[in-house]
Amino acid sequence: MEVWRLARVLSRRLSLQSSACGAALTSRSRVQCRGATGLQGNTSRSYFSATDSTALVYRRHGEPSQVVQLETLRLPALEAKSALVKMLAAPVNPSDINMIQGTYPIPLDLPAVGGNEGVGQVLEVGSQVQTVKVGDWVILRDTGLGTWRTAAVFNEDDLVTVPSDISLLSAATLGVNPCTAFRMLSDFESLSPGDTVIQNAANSGVGQAVIQIAAAKGIHTINIVRDRPDLQQLTDRLKAMGATYVIKEESLRKPEIKDIFKVYPQPKLAFNGVGGKSATELLRHLQTGGTMVTYGGMAKQPVTVPVSALIFKDVKIRGFWVTQWKRDNKHDGDALSVMLEELCTLIRAGKLSAPFCTEVDMKDFHKALDNAMKPYISSKQILVM
Ligand SMILES: NC(=O)c1ccc[n+]([C@@H]2O[C@H](COP(=O)([O-])OP(=O)(O)OC[C@H]3O[C@@H](n4cnc5c(N)ncnc54)[C@H](OP(=O)(O)O)[C@@H]3O)[C@@H](O)[C@H]2O)c1
Repeated sequence: MEVWRLARVLSRRLSLQSSACGAALTSRSRVQCRGATGLQGNTSRSYFSATDSTALVYRRHGEPSQVVQLETLRLPALEAKSALVKMLAAPVNPSDINMIQGTYPIPLDLPAVGGNEGVGQVLEVGSQVQTVKVGDWVILRDTGLGTWRTAAVFNEDDLVTVPSDISLLSAATLGVNPCTAFRMLSDFESLSPGDTVIQNAANSGVGQAVIQIAAAKGIHTINIVRDRPDLQQLTDRLKAMGATYVIKEESLRKPEIKDIFKVYPQPKLAFNGVGGKSATELLRHLQTGGTMVTYGGMAKQPVTVPVSALIFKDVKIRGFWVTQWKRDNKHDGDALSVMLEELCTLIRAGKLSAPFCTEVDMKDFHKALDNAMKPYISSKQILVM
């Protein structure tokens, strides 16, 4: 499609969606957030304009459904090194919720636009932009840039082009969880086909990516999930993705677990997205000299390492934060794009799908925020703009 036509079609879609949300827009305060400083609220009804965006903004910390509101924001002028991006879809991740609640370890200045991940399409570029062009699909390199909005002006350095021949949902969820899974499988132990990895929160976005990337490399996964009424259904879904075993947390303490390790080697690597007792249980099954990588703390409990695991098994306790990895590799232009290309190759080959998810129109954000905080929902909420 020619560029001008594409821009017109997108503009029309943006126009319709903005006016549908207009009734809720009342604020008039200055919003500062990285990636779009100086956005200004607007008291008028929402209407499409190249200068406005509809955004999910929070002005204080608290319960997401109480503090997040839909506002019209004035877009800053396009600068030489920036690009105007129409956001297409953005997930609601646990870190987004923690940021809104004010419990995320890296605080954002308020007010802020919610969302750290998502995919958009470039509508316009500044005169000196070199790395993205009009029509490209882009994701964001860093956190805290605010993806829950219909449009934004981002610095070109914050944008990474992704191919548009993958599904919108795969693109919207590509930049954080699959990258985390990929790095954790690559950077901590040298794994060969036939090796085993154990993980908790196996049905999380990260967990699903671990299962699929590991399966594509011939690595077995022992997957721990919390018990629930539909456990068999969840087990079937994870096995269809390539999970070797799916076990509920309670079964980890039962003697039968040892039978698994008669068939498969004990894990060299454990991935902990939960903390507390769940992490301690993972450690009990690690190989001598193996590594546990903590990447999340869903149980909000500290990790306790038994002395025996350190003395007699010499386990390594590590942590990983994908945002730091991207920052550390910012000047190695290739590192991120090589990884994204590998992930997209898996996606195209049908070996890596988007996590189980539910698409929610951005104006129904209350529903998305509430569902994102429910236990056992097993469905990532994706805001569609
Ligand atoms: N370090 C990094 O670079 C990095 C990158 C990505 C994500 N993360 C972190 O990884 C974690 C998972 O993120 P995600 O996007 O993959 O999550 P997600 O898709 O939203 O899934 C949340 C997962 O957490 C589990 N969970 C929720 N509350 C729990 C609790 N109290 N105890 C045990 N499990 C619980 C859920 O299990 P149920 O189905 O049983 O409710 C589900 O498996 C989060 O902490 C996130 O911040 C870190």
